[in-house]
Amino acid sequence: MNKVGVGIVGSKFAADFHCDSYSRNEHVEIKAVAAIDNLEAISKKWNIPDTYLDYKEMFKRKDIDLVSVCLPNFLHHDVVIAAAEAGKHVICEKPLATNIEDARHMIKVCREKNVKLMYAEDWCFAPPLKRALEVVKEGSIGKVLYVKAKECHNGTHSPFAKDKKSCGGGSFVHLGIHPIGYLLYLLGDEGRNPVVEVTGKMTGGLDENYVHKGNGGEDFGMGMMRFKNGEFGFVEGNYITVGGMDDKVEIYGSEGLMKIDLTFGSPIDCYSRKGISYAIEKTDFTNGWTKPAVDEFYNLGYVPELAYFVDCVRKDLKPFYGVDGSAGLACVEIVQAFYESNATGKTVYGSWA
Ligand SMILES: NC(=O)c1ccc[n+]([C@@H]2O[C@H](COP(=O)([O-])OP(=O)(O)OC[C@H]3O[C@@H](n4cnc5c(N)ncnc54)[C@H](O)[C@@H]3O)[C@@H](O)[C@H]2O)c1
Repeated sequence: MNKVGVGIVGSKFAADFHCDSYSRNEHVEIKAVAAIDNLEAISKKWNIPDTYLDYKEMFKRKDIDLVSVCLPNFLHHDVVIAAAEAGKHVICEKPLATNIEDARHMIKVCREKNVKLMYAEDWCFAPPLKRALEVVKEGSIGKVLYVKAKECHNGTHSPFAKDKKSCGGGSFVHLGIHPIGYLLYLLGDEGRNPVVEVTGKMTGGLDENYVHKGNGGEDFGMGMMRFKNGEFGFVEGNYITVGGMDDKVEIYGSEGLMKIDLTFGSPIDCYSRKGISYAIEKTDFTNGWTKPAVDEFYNLGYVPELAYFVDCVRKDLKPFYGVDGSAGLACVEIVQAFYESNATGKTVYGSWA
């Protein structure tokens, strides 16, 4: 295969960083984009030759090998199934689906149609988090005992993510799924969900939220998880964090520890009286002292992630556990267990392997 022909479904935030990543990749040609709005803007920005209002029409094209699903969460299932039935390999943004049955069905159909289902957990490719994994794997901090990880910011830009039904929850599924996915990658056995118990606490949505009273889902979620080899994990996903997107991971081992600051770790300290044009995702002020991101899309993992998925298609590789369909399913199962724990006030014990 010379160049991989790509079709993007979606036209806004996630579609933009998929296009950015593909445009840096010499093995890719973006053939078309399908969405219900913003088509003119995205096709102009990334020089995409064809646009479609109906993604099914786009999937009829023979020159598209790979589809990027950059749509609201509740649409992931139907679009992945349609892509698989059209014989396309699929990259699905997080979460894989809004419920366990849909996620299982997506895996089954992709397997039957012999197409790859790749789960876009960018934390598995973010250079600082990949480096941390190498240090863990070489044994330099001993046995991992405890990991604390979070993605938090001041609220979603997407109207779909504010609606509990179309999102599948609130901040916990939308943001907390990143640390959960990374923990599976870090501590998971090949292809097996290593989590044995979870306990979650969240705000209640709407009037029971701390800040975002218009959001149907929670605006604050935290949870404790226990892994089968005894490790503890603590994860957070909230919309009450002002000052820019705050992604942090702390890994505590028997012989050492690591603290990773994914979003504020810029080597630049900038002071501007009038403010700079952009600092980091979800900052509302950029004057005074800031830490402007350096190649944010690369650093968050999107560019290496999509390069890896393109290689999986070109070289017919099986995506590793963490970014395959089974890890996507495991994340959905764990998030659902956290929601159940919050609703019942009890720890949920399970073997999801
Ligand atoms: N990996 C990450 O860090 C990351 C970051 C942001 C978003 N995401 C994920 O990407 C996905 C999209 O999020 P977003 O922020 O781009 O949302 P968005 O609201 O910015 O864009 C939604 C897109 O969906 C399209 N759309 C809506 N309904 C449609 C339909 N019926 N048919 C075709 N297109 C339709 C809209 O045209 C729009 O382009 C979500 O699943 C989200 O969780 C991942």
